[in-house]
Amino acid sequence: MQVNHAELVISAVRPNQYPEDSVPEIALAGRSNVGKSSFINRMIERIGLARTSSQPGKTQTLNFYNINNEFRFVDVPGYGYARVSKSERIKWGSMIEHYILNRENIRLLLLLMDIRHEPTELDIAMKEFADEAEIPYAIVLTKLDKIKKSQLNKHLSIYKKSLNLPTVDALFYFSSETGEGSEDIWDIIEDQLAE
Ligand code: GTP
Ligand code: MG
Repeated sequence: MQVNHAELVISAVRPNQYPEDSVPEIALAGRSNVGKSSFINRMIERIGLARTSSQPGKTQTLNFYNINNEFRFVDVPGYGYARVSKSERIKWGSMIEHYILNRENIRLLLLLMDIRHEPTELDIAMKEFADEAEIPYAIVLTKLDKIKKSQLNKHLSIYKKSLNLPTVDALFYFSSETGEGSEDIWDIIEDQLAE
C-alpha cells in the first residue's frame, strides 16, 4: 500500500472519544516495549508519528491514526508493564478489553510479540482471548533484526509450539529497523480491508 496521508485523529482515554463512523480499524496489541508504535511508523514510513521510547509504558492511550482516509491503525497501550500501579494496570486492561470486544470497526488484530523470547504468559493469554472472541488476528514477531538469520526457523517453531498453532502460517516476522516483513503484513491487512 502506498501511504499518502497519515495523521493522529485522537488519543482516546474513554470509549465516547472513539471516532464515530464505520472506518475499518487494524488494531495492535502486545506487551510494553515490543514495538507497536515503531511498527506503525515503519509501516507508514513516517518516523516519529507514533511516539516511541526505549522505556516501556510509553503509549498510555488508544491512539487512532487515519491512513489514506481508508482505514485506521489503532495503537494500544502495552500490557505487562510491571512498574505501573496495579490499579493502573487493571484500568489499561479493561480499556483494551472493552475496545477489542466491543468495537465493530476492527477488521484485524495484530498481536505483536518479541521474536527473541518465548511468548510470555500474557502473550499466550492474549492469543487465546482472540481465539475465544473470534477476532481475526495475526501474530507479528518483532525485532527480527536482533536475531541471526540462521536462527529464524528455530524461533518460528518455538512460537508455533508455545502458541499451539497448527502451522507457522499465522506467524509473520518484522523489523522496524530494516522494514523486513512489511510487505507480507501489508498483504494481510489489504486482504482484511477488502473483505
Ligand atoms: P509501549 O508504548 O510502551 O507499549 O511500547 P511499544 O510496544 O509501542 O514499543 P516502541 O515502539 O516504543 O519500541 C520500544 C523500543 O524498542 C524502542 O527503543 C524501539 O526503538 C525498539 N524497537 C521497536 N521495534 C524494533 C525493531 O524491530 N528492532 C529493534 N532493534 N528495535 C526495535
Ligand atoms: Mg507505544
